[in-house]
Amino acid sequence: MISSVKGTQDLIDKKATLYEKIIKTCEEVAKNYSFSFINLPHMELSALFKRSVGESSDIVGKEMYEFKDKSDREIALRPEGTASAVRAYLNAKFDKNKAAKRWFYHGSMFRYERPQKGRFREFHQFGVESFGEKSVYEDINLIFILDEIFKKLGIKSTLKINSLGCEACMPKFREKLIEFLNAQSGFCEDCLRRKELNPIRVLDCKQETCKNLLIKHPKMRDCLCETCKTDFELLQKVLKDNEVKFEVDDRLVRGLDYYSKTAFEFENDSIGAKAAIAGGGRYDRLLQDLGSKGGYGVGFAIGIERIMDILEQNEAKTDDENLIYFCILNEELLQDSISLVKKLRQNKKVFMNYEAKKLSKHLELADNMNACVFLCMGDDEFKEGKIFYKNLKSKIDKKILINDLENFL
Ligand code: HAM
Repeated sequence: MISSVKGTQDLIDKKATLYEKIIKTCEEVAKNYSFSFINLPHMELSALFKRSVGESSDIVGKEMYEFKDKSDREIALRPEGTASAVRAYLNAKFDKNKAAKRWFYHGSMFRYERPQKGRFREFHQFGVESFGEKSVYEDINLIFILDEIFKKLGIKSTLKINSLGCEACMPKFREKLIEFLNAQSGFCEDCLRRKELNPIRVLDCKQETCKNLLIKHPKMRDCLCETCKTDFELLQKVLKDNEVKFEVDDRLVRGLDYYSKTAFEFENDSIGAKAAIAGGGRYDRLLQDLGSKGGYGVGFAIGIERIMDILEQNEAKTDDENLIYFCILNEELLQDSISLVKKLRQNKKVFMNYEAKKLSKHLELADNMNACVFLCMGDDEFKEGKIFYKNLKSKIDKKILINDLENFL
């Protein structure tokens, strides 16, 4: 039998339904903010990502799926959607008059990462990209969209924000940071590489030794020019006024090189270590880097697999509180039990095991299913007109008269 490729997964049954539900919710919210659907290719010339996501990023440096096609073109499977959206905007010459375009997309992205919980080699994103808007209110709108999507899906998250400054103030910060980094020693290999290619990415290192070396690092917010400072303050004020909670994180620089000004990430900690469930920011400079005379761009992407994991967990929790596991110890009791179960199912969620097994085996199965109540019919109970009841959370058990069962439950 041929197995699937490492780091990929089939979305079947519950996962497939969840995928549809998440995309539908994201689309609904994005459409209300006047975004419309765009479909982008899954492969692009490798150069696109090298010039946008950046050579200093892990994504381009280590994780890109690249190959030569039969005409010797260097092709990459897209590791993200922003670069393609910018390319599409420029190819259609929308930048000539700085046209406002608000697009959303969803689909597979490919990164050769070490697979683990919430991390795949083929994963899905729902992303939005807004072009032609200079105003910081557009950055705020994107945060509102994410906040609304997560509220609609019932997902708790922490929002982290930062300003990375613009072309006027970023170089000043860079200089200060390089001076600071040069005065320290002991950074990891990756940081030494980042220091040469794009020093601000050192701030993103997750290694404890590097984190300790960075404790007193210079802060971007102390170097912001007047415009960036005013915009960042306005962003914070409007978020506060609209009751969107956030934390300012001086080390939030994002793992892709194209950001300037606003950068943000939403985190959730219910699927293991704090995981980013969405990230984005402004990337005005990227339009120039990819050949335009100028323009404005801001966007975000949500990691669908991570949202699916959280929702699956949330649903498992609510299922617990409702599920009754019903079983028999002797198959001859099945016929009599089935009418009782039918009655219970009028307002309760009941799983019925048709096989007679030992009590301990049934209890084990009920536990695996996260059931809350365990009901079991044995010969003795049947003769007495009773049923064995156990609350699987409080562990209390007793025999209950069948006639009293519905009231009791
Ligand atoms: P990103 O932070 O690289 O940003 O990815 C966005 C989200 O995709 C992450 O927050 C995470 O939830 C999910 N993700 C990333 N890698 C994996 C993986 N290997 N397995 C599962 N999920 C993953 C971008 O991609 C930017 N293009 C976002 C953006 C749009 N910025 C502006 N516009």
